[in-house]
Amino acid sequence: MGSIIKNVKLENMDFQFWNPTRIIFGDGKTNELADDLDLDWQFEGKKRAYVVTDAGVRKAGLLDYLLNALDGSSRQVVGVFDDVAEEAEKNQIYKIATDAKNAEPDFWIALGGGSVMDACKAAAVIASNGGELEDYEGMHLVEKECLPIICIPTTAGTGSEVTWGAVVMDSEEKRKIVLGDYKFTPRLAVLDPEMTKTLPSHLVAATGLDALTHAIGAFVSNDRQDFSSAISIRCIEMVADNLELAYKENADNPDVRSKMLIASTMGGVAFQTALPGADHGIGHSVGALHHIHHGLAVGICNLHVMEYNLQAVPHLYASIARALGVQEVGLSDEATGRLGIERLRELYSRVDIKLTLKEYGFPDSDAMVEELAEHSLNDPCMIFNPADVGRSPEYDRLIKNCIGVQ
Ligand SMILES: NC(=O)c1ccc[n+]([C@@H]2O[C@H](COP(=O)([O-])OP(=O)(O)OC[C@H]3O[C@@H](n4cnc5c(N)ncnc54)[C@H](O)[C@@H]3O)[C@@H](O)[C@H]2O)c1
Ligand SMILES: [Fe+2]
Repeated sequence: MGSIIKNVKLENMDFQFWNPTRIIFGDGKTNELADDLDLDWQFEGKKRAYVVTDAGVRKAGLLDYLLNALDGSSRQVVGVFDDVAEEAEKNQIYKIATDAKNAEPDFWIALGGGSVMDACKAAAVIASNGGELEDYEGMHLVEKECLPIICIPTTAGTGSEVTWGAVVMDSEEKRKIVLGDYKFTPRLAVLDPEMTKTLPSHLVAATGLDALTHAIGAFVSNDRQDFSSAISIRCIEMVADNLELAYKENADNPDVRSKMLIASTMGGVAFQTALPGADHGIGHSVGALHHIHHGLAVGICNLHVMEYNLQAVPHLYASIARALGVQEVGLSDEATGRLGIERLRELYSRVDIKLTLKEYGFPDSDAMVEELAEHSLNDPCMIFNPADVGRSPEYDRLIKNCIGVQ
């Protein structure tokens, strides 16, 4: 009997595990990027890079660091877009795609957090395929393969550097456009802990919760299988062991910074093969209806979704509790899972994360409860939730718990 993952009957008899991104890790890997590309067949003959980033990353000096690293090397930067909005805004995507096409690059570099990486992926789709983002909304609708993408994550949370998803905000329509296609999956993920050194502590906490939520969501997903489950469990352990220290001393502690970066990529590998459920389903809607950081939104929803799902898959929540450090023996799976949720509450409080959305300004009116309940049920992640979701007193209670309505 496995001590963390239980030896239950095989639960998924029909799956694939698709992870084509080459991952390299090491302090200073960004500085060595050109040398590395010289040895990578995927970038053979590809000399012209278009760089996508944002103002915060530029101000932190990371864009200059990358440009200096490539200056005089075998690769040339032919264009830079350095103003991606937080939550990658739809209108910007066309601007990036047009600017990049004019610069005639033969590969892309995304330097930033999830917003930048997703903007780069979406722009790569439009640059290679034309049309509107809505033409590719959904799964596997991109026709032509995109130019190869290199991602250098500067936050430790989204895992977008390895995923086949891109999320773009449509502020006018108050919704998020989700694209899913292997044709823009990054070819290379450069995990360089030097790049997350400047991340402010509140973002260390919020993005770390995104990674944790990916791993927990993937572990209990209706689409779960053992490849992703193994990776999820290690991600959960690493976040549980390192988030608090990273929150307190991210800049000065290369060890915890490195582990959070590795964990977040592992979370990405896990969730892109076993999509998360209501944690991200509700979290996406929260972000669309009210400006609140993605990691915070999904992290808060995750805690309440765990309680909602607990009775549907108690054996899985018992495993998660073990990975979170629960050691009590002789309890039922449900009771063990409950202790895991308790551990998480403590972890959240140690990194100063509040437990309800209203504490981050999300409106707690009846109208907003109604809107969030309806909006979230249309999210594509919902079908992967292990407990049934749909309008019911229990589901409305879940929404109220996330918001913080009595
Ligand atoms: N495609 C996927 O697989 C996937 C998965 C999860 C989340 N997402 C998306 O990712 C987005 C959130 O990304 P995020 O959490 O990485 O935040 P972010 O990219 O929005 O960045 C948040 C802020 O941090 C700043 N920042 C980033 N790195 C920094 C650094 N090293 N030093 C100083 N400042 C820095 C940015 O300038 C920005 O102001 C959301 O749009 C979400 O939908 C995508
Ligand atoms: Fe996420």
